Amino acid sequence: MRAYIFLDKVFCLGLAAAFAVLASFSVQAQGWESLRKDGIHDPRAPAAKELQEPAAALSKLTTDNTGNMVRWVQALEKGEINPRASIRPDTKIRVYDSDSLLNLKGGMPIVRFPHRQHTQWLDCSNCHDHLFKAEAGANQLSMLKILEGEQCGVCHGAVAFPLTECFRCHSVARPGNVLRPTLPIAIPPGAVPPR
Ligand code: HEC
Ligand code: HEC
Ligand code: HEC
Repeated sequence: MRAYIFLDKVFCLGLAAAFAVLASFSVQAQGWESLRKDGIHDPRAPAAKELQEPAAALSKLTTDNTGNMVRWVQALEKGEINPRASIRPDTKIRVYDSDSLLNLKGGMPIVRFPHRQHTQWLDCSNCHDHLFKAEAGANQLSMLKILEGEQCGVCHGAVAFPLTECFRCHSVARPGNVLRPTLPIAIPPGAVPPR
C-alpha cells in the first residue's frame, strides 16, 4: 500500500472508498444535536427537559472541527474540565509519559503515539496487552485494520477523534514528505528511537 501526499490532499490507493464513508460520518457529526432529536433519548420522557443539552455543556470547551466538536486533550490540559480520576479511593492512577513512533517504514508521515495523553484518560489495561503488546515494534499495525475498527480504531472514530484526521496521528514528517506547514519536522524528545 502506498500513499502520496501533495500538500493537503492525500491520494491513497485502495483506501479511497473507506475514506469516503468516513467523511460522510464526520459531516453528520457536525454541531450538537438536541437531545430530543438525537434518536437516542425519548423526547416524551419527563427527563428530556431536565437534562442539560450537549450544546450548552460542550460549546464552552476548546472546539474541534470534527467528531463531537471538542478538542478533549486541550480541554483537559487547559483545565476547562477536571474529571474525577476514580470512583474508589484505592484505584491506582498510572500515567506513562513516553511517545512511541509507529509506521517507520511507510510513505505517510510517522505516527507518534503519545502515552501521556492516553493515560490521562485511560488505564494501561484498556490497551495492554489485548490490543497492543507493551514492547516497541512488537505489534503488526495496519491502517486497514484501524479503519475496520481494530487497534487504534477501537477508539478513534468511536469515542476519540475520527480517523479522517490523518495528520493528528501521522504527525512526524520523514524526508520526502511534502509537508503541511504545521507538521513538526523533528522527532519529539523522549520518543522511542527508530528501530
Ligand atoms: C488514530 C491514528 C491514525 C489516524 C487518524 C490515521 N492513521 Fe494511518 N496509520 C496509523 C498507524 C498506527 C499506522 C501504522 C501501521 C504500521 O506500523 O505499519 C498507520 C499506517 C498508515 C498507512 C500505511 C503505511 C504508510 O505510511 O504508507 C497509510 C497509507 C495510512 N496510515 C494512511 C492514513 C490516511 C490517509 C489517514 C487519514 C484518512 C490516516 N492514515 C489516519 C494511525 C492512524
Ligand atoms: C491507548 C492505548 C494504550 C494505553 C492506554 C497504554 N499503552 Fe502502552 N503502548 C501502546 C502502543 C500503541 C504501544 C506501541 C507498541 C509498538 O511499538 O508496537 C505501547 C507501548 C508500550 C511500551 C513499550 C514501548 C516503551 O515505551 O517502552 C510500554 C513499556 C508501555 N506501552 C507501557 C504502558 C503503561 C505502563 C501504560 C499505563 C500507564 C500504557 N502503556 C498504556 C498503547 C497504549
Ligand atoms: C482505548 C482507546 C484508545 C485507543 C486504542 C487509542 N486511542 Fe488515541 N486517544 C484516545 C482518547 C480517549 C484520546 C483523547 C480524546 C481525543 O483526542 O479525541 C486520544 C487521543 C489521541 C491523540 C491526540 C493527542 C493530542 O495531543 O491531541 C493521538 C495522536 C492519538 N490518540 C493517537 C492514537 C494512535 C496512533 C493509536 C493507535 C496506536 C491510538 N491513539 C489508540 C483513545 C484511544
